[in-house]
Amino acid sequence: EKGGYDYFMLKEIAEQPRAVADTLLGRIDANGRLTLDEIRLSDDELREIDKIIIVACGTAYHAGLVAKYAIEHWTRIPCEVELASEFRYRDPILDRDTLVIAISQSGETMDTLMAVRHAREQRSRVLAICNVNGSTIPRESDAVLYTHAGPEVGVAATKTFLTQLVACYLVGLYLAQVRGTMFGDEIRAIIAQLADMPDKVEKVLDTIEPVRELARSLADAKAVLFLGRHVGYPVALEGALKLKELAYMHAEAFAAGELKHGPIALIEQDLPVVVVVPPRRGRSVLHDKILSNIQEIRARGAKTIVITEEGDETVAPYADTLIYVPAAPTLLQPLVATVPLQVFACELALARGHDVDRPRNLAKSVTVE
Ligand code: M6R
Repeated sequence: EKGGYDYFMLKEIAEQPRAVADTLLGRIDANGRLTLDEIRLSDDELREIDKIIIVACGTAYHAGLVAKYAIEHWTRIPCEVELASEFRYRDPILDRDTLVIAISQSGETMDTLMAVRHAREQRSRVLAICNVNGSTIPRESDAVLYTHAGPEVGVAATKTFLTQLVACYLVGLYLAQVRGTMFGDEIRAIIAQLADMPDKVEKVLDTIEPVRELARSLADAKAVLFLGRHVGYPVALEGALKLKELAYMHAEAFAAGELKHGPIALIEQDLPVVVVVPPRRGRSVLHDKILSNIQEIRARGAKTIVITEEGDETVAPYADTLIYVPAAPTLLQPLVATVPLQVFACELALARGHDVDRPRNLAKSVTVE
């Protein structure tokens, strides 16, 4: 059942190109337009929305953080992201025109379910993004968009994260299509770029061996830091979470711009720091800013592990290890940039002798609050 792999996690990482492709399948018509009638919210209802709040936990929360950038950029609807466990305790402002998006792989996470119930009590519409058919969260929501990752057995979320990202992109683009906030051609171009992502993820996997070697070489490290900005920040958070839960190592992620406000004090000789570099095209200012961050931490002795797009030579002089991923538009880059971090955490955990499918103290779905 592990399909020749020693661990489900390895199998599930390898399944990601297919999982991404399956989540796109059947949702794009012959004219390159999105068909998401399955979510059962009428165009009128979608036009009335004036605020979006995404609620989720753990990895699903990181998908939500990426979604915020994409949804606000494409739809101009204000979008907040909140840890589901915090949501109902702060008396959030909700009404009929608020769309609450609950992201949950299992559909059974109690914190997320309680957030959904709270939102519905306040008459908000709730859209679930979920991987398990017929689970509790989609049953209690107004609408659902399923991710088609297939069953995920490893406790660490991998392929479901990538498919949650795809589902969020689809929701954002669909809202833009219905509300007319983007030109049809623009939407079609992004959909075409999304359709290229399974091949790009495959390419990351085909060239992943150096990441494995790197992970093994760091098996005795005390801590690892992760830096990113824009959508690279949630990618960094996800990389740190994977390392905590699998390798039981201290791992922390920062928005690179925050470094100078405190965390830079942590940098010391030989501390491994993974940096996710945004593409040069598009948000080139961010690219240059992160480049100076890399120089700063390297000058203080950090071992820099830099993830950047193919063809970006500018970072090479400051990288102790350079990991190239295929070029993708900024907003879609998390689909490729996350994969090396999953493999990194998995391999490092294995090198430390841990069972990556069943990390200590954790359950696949957390059904208590
Ligand atoms: O089933 P859910 O997506 O609601 O689960 C949410 C989190 O518990 C989950 O993502 C957890 O953080 C994973 N173990 C991360 O790998």
